Amino acid sequence: MSVTVRVPAKVNVQLAVGPARPDGFHDLANVFLAVGLYDEVTAAPADELRVTCAGPDAAQVPLDRTNLAARAALALAERHGRPADVHLHIAKDIPVAGGMAGGSADAAGALLACDALWGTGASRAELLDICAELGSDVPFSLVGGAALGTGRGERLQELAVGGDFHWVFAVADGGLSTPAVYREFDRLTPDAPAPEASPALLEALRTGDAAALAATLSNDLQAAALSLFPALADTLKAGTEAGALAALVSGSGPTTAFLVKDADAAERVAAALRASGTCRTARPATSPAPGAGVL
Ligand code: C5P
Repeated sequence: MSVTVRVPAKVNVQLAVGPARPDGFHDLANVFLAVGLYDEVTAAPADELRVTCAGPDAAQVPLDRTNLAARAALALAERHGRPADVHLHIAKDIPVAGGMAGGSADAAGALLACDALWGTGASRAELLDICAELGSDVPFSLVGGAALGTGRGERLQELAVGGDFHWVFAVADGGLSTPAVYREFDRLTPDAPAPEASPALLEALRTGDAAALAATLSNDLQAAALSLFPALADTLKAGTEAGALAALVSGSGPTTAFLVKDADAAERVAAALRASGTCRTARPATSPAPGAGVL
């Protein structure tokens, strides 16, 4: 018997970052939107905890206990006083170290899959609690849709979305370390104001208005990501010239996100980005997408 869970990637349509807190994290106003690029996590009984991974970027995924999926299984097993005797297989389609919460998706997926496999019967609140311990973005991977994350991003308020948005994601050649991007943010922004969600952006989401969303997208980590990975400016320019409504770095990068008018525009912009030589590949995707769910 095995259980497979599908989990979406995310893009941050607003990422407002405050100053570093005493615990090293930053307070955020983080508007998450789940997008239809998915990892699948399968949990099957095994003699001991084992992680395997398949997909184009599988070689970059750690298979030891630093893998967030392994940590999720261990956390659930420990809380319920049982062994984490599970084989977790990750079918990886979300870019690795790309600022799209791929590792967080695997953690949320492993948690839900182990809960179902073991019949743990954990409540939604307990699952969200474990997610928040595992990482700032993990609760959102469980919930999906759209949400405003405050605190370090883990306290979620679900948001209504009035229509589908179409995107293209350009996958960069290489990765960026999230802590390094936050450190660069601190260096570039010594007097960051307290983060606040943009009412105009929340309204654009609520009404499903792509042009209004394009006018209000923002990412306070973008300058830091560009400072560490200057070639991303060429990717942003290529997507904009190809007709995207707006372009921004996704989360801490280096994936770049292009909001487009419709599915046809997504295909056109993706083709232009692939031909531009400024990224490794370009993937169309639609949002919002549902959160982690058993298949
Ligand atoms: O929570 P998570 O493990 O995903 O965070 C990874 C790193 O990103 C943290 O160690 C920290 O350096 C940075 N971070 C931050 N403020 C946040 C979220 C993440 O400084 N709100």
